[in-house]
Amino acid sequence: MEKFTVHGPCKLEGEVVISGAKNAAVAILPATLLVKGKCHLENVPNISDIRAYCKILESLGSKIEYLSPNEMIIDNTNIKTGIASSELTSKFRASYYLLGALLGNFSQVQISLPGGCNLGARPIDQHIKVLEKLGATVEVKRGNVYASRKEKLKGSHIFLDVVSVGATMNAILAATLAEGITVIENVAKEPHIVDLANFLNSMGAKIQGAGTDTIRIIGVSTLSQKSSYSIIPDQIEAGTFMVAAAATKGNVLIKNCIPKHLEHITSKLKEAGAIIDEYETSIRVKMNERPKAFSVKTMPYPGFPTDMQPQMSILLCICDGTGIIVENIWESRFQYTDELAKMGADISAHGTTAIFKGVDKLYSAPVRAHDLRAGAAMIIAGLVAEGDTDVYDIHHILRGYENITEKFKNLGANIVYSNDNAEAEFDA
Ligand code: UD1
Repeated sequence: MEKFTVHGPCKLEGEVVISGAKNAAVAILPATLLVKGKCHLENVPNISDIRAYCKILESLGSKIEYLSPNEMIIDNTNIKTGIASSELTSKFRASYYLLGALLGNFSQVQISLPGGCNLGARPIDQHIKVLEKLGATVEVKRGNVYASRKEKLKGSHIFLDVVSVGATMNAILAATLAEGITVIENVAKEPHIVDLANFLNSMGAKIQGAGTDTIRIIGVSTLSQKSSYSIIPDQIEAGTFMVAAAATKGNVLIKNCIPKHLEHITSKLKEAGAIIDEYETSIRVKMNERPKAFSVKTMPYPGFPTDMQPQMSILLCICDGTGIIVENIWESRFQYTDELAKMGADISAHGTTAIFKGVDKLYSAPVRAHDLRAGAAMIIAGLVAEGDTDVYDIHHILRGYENITEKFKNLGANIVYSNDNAEAEFDA
């Protein structure tokens, strides 16, 4: 069985370089399908979700040339089908972007119902609403989503019922090559949405307002790339190292990040007592004291990101006082608190609220990574705890963090990857 063994406690010190944003890359890869030609991408994170997405594109007919682990040229000249239904597409959530992207050039599209982290119900009604408003017919049956159009998609006025990252991305993808003007209101404003719009605009798309509540798209007939595109740094990876630095009373310079994207995390860390210095493309987090208690409510951007709440919870596990997390995006995001309880944390989680009574110390225990971000939280807990913490189900963590053991080791952590089933151990 694969696991990470984290030897704690440790104080993280040094510098870490943040990789490209997973949630931008998983939208930009399918967006290349809108281009009948080559796309050159840089700063692509080398993580298992991206490797899986590349395999899906190759199964459709894309040719991918890897210039380095983080740079690639994708040639979609010979894509012949919009049928992307497979075991691979059913495995992760962001495969639903294939719907919007493939409908740009194909009249019949099929994907398997998307999987992803188990965070509770993950409906796709808003994705379907968007595609139908643009003129597609969408049907969900026997584990597949079928979308078709008789003619080109047509611009429309769409109001999203809930602020959804995925539905906003799909609306941008589908409307880029549609005829006429599309206006989408009540959209998500996350940095990865702006990055997708910037990527498409750099190739001739006309997308205005990304990063605000309303996006306006004037449909264009073709896109073509003039120069390579570099994906933005990963906001959540940067936030994870910021919290890890604070939780271990460390001093870490987080390089290649966009401090503006991290304001909600910075503000909470300051409440906890961290000292933060912001520079143009880096941020330093120092912590000298036991964290003070604070409360967090997850919200769509620019609110506190749900994908940072498990990591942030480690500060509350060891804080001086009682802290609260209210989860407003996903209904089942506190499953990881049972794992932290095994390590001595005092947490009572009911529905969408978890109350943390800070304890002096966490102790090592075998724990599971319930999902990607919960897995990152288990590593941080292991860094804080006394003893050797074994973290299992680490495939979740490897979906979204590039060279995670290497990055933590460079900061002074002692983390070992092992696999009972493998002949030799290696560094994941
Ligand atoms: C994306 C992120 C995920 C993050 C989430 C919220 C990617 C690949 N994943 O997921 O890591 O946790 O944003 O920041 O970028 N909803 C509906 N109907 C829909 C779609 C969503 O009701 O059709 C609801 C969801 O149940 C949820 C909320 O809207 O309560 C937000 O979901 P959404 O923003 O769509 O999340 P994802 O795009 O799936």
